[in-house]
Amino acid sequence: MVVAIAGGHGKIALRLTRLLTDEGHVVRSLIRNPDHAGDVRAAGGQSLLCDLEQVDVEGVAEAIEAVDAVVFAAGAGPGSGAERKQTMDHGGAVKLIAAAQQSGVDRYLMISSMGADPDATGEDTFTVYRRAKGLADAALTGSGLDYTIIRPTRLTDEPATGRVRIGEGLERGAISRGDVAAVLAVSLGAPATIGKAFDLTSGETPIDEALAAL
Ligand SMILES: NC(=O)c1ccc[n+]([C@@H]2O[C@H](COP(=O)([O-])OP(=O)(O)OC[C@H]3O[C@@H](n4cnc5c(N)ncnc54)[C@H](OP(=O)(O)O)[C@@H]3O)[C@@H](O)[C@H]2O)c1
Repeated sequence: MVVAIAGGHGKIALRLTRLLTDEGHVVRSLIRNPDHAGDVRAAGGQSLLCDLEQVDVEGVAEAIEAVDAVVFAAGAGPGSGAERKQTMDHGGAVKLIAAAQQSGVDRYLMISSMGADPDATGEDTFTVYRRAKGLADAALTGSGLDYTIIRPTRLTDEPATGRVRIGEGLERGAISRGDVAAVLAVSLGAPATIGKAFDLTSGETPIDEALAAL
């Protein structure tokens, strides 16, 4: 497969790049800072400059042309305010949906967030973030694309365990970015995950088994 990762220099994205390229897939990493190209290359990926907040839909569509799947791994990040939750966490994800439709890329994997809610009310930054992620998920669900929406709980940099808990309405906990990357990698090769949205936290079930039970 050829897989485009939006936000290709993110911490989950780099782990996913390594997993996919080790399996022989090709990763096209959309980054916005040319200084990040070396890290992407070191993980096995090919970088392409594409700032999701600056480039229009046509530009993003060109960047993902002829790929088999896209992964939305970008995010405004913890230091950002409400405005970038809207332009990046919502706007960037929705732009990638439109670009995928335009380019004929059917498969779209979304890194969402536990607690994402299109109806969340309030204007504090965290609520704006939860709403932005929820609206992006709703747009993807209604897009007609072959989606998988993964809603991890709090992320850590602990070593991956290969074991997770997947479901609806799970309690908050923690999960390593390595395990999130592994869930994405397995989902890409698992048609049963198409049309599914689920919470993700650390657990006891091997990843392929947890996904097969969806
Ligand atoms: N933190 C948590 O506990 C948590 C929990 C659940 C879900 N999540 C979601 O998981 C996502 C991935 O996590 P992570 O730790 O891998 O994130 P990360 O390391 O912060 O990576 C996000 C990436 O998005 C890129 N980006 C930002 N704005 C962009 C733009 N306009 N165009 C293209 N790329 C852009 C960043 O690039 P630059 O370096 O150039 O800014 C960065 O490489 C988060 O963004 C968040 O929405 C987080």
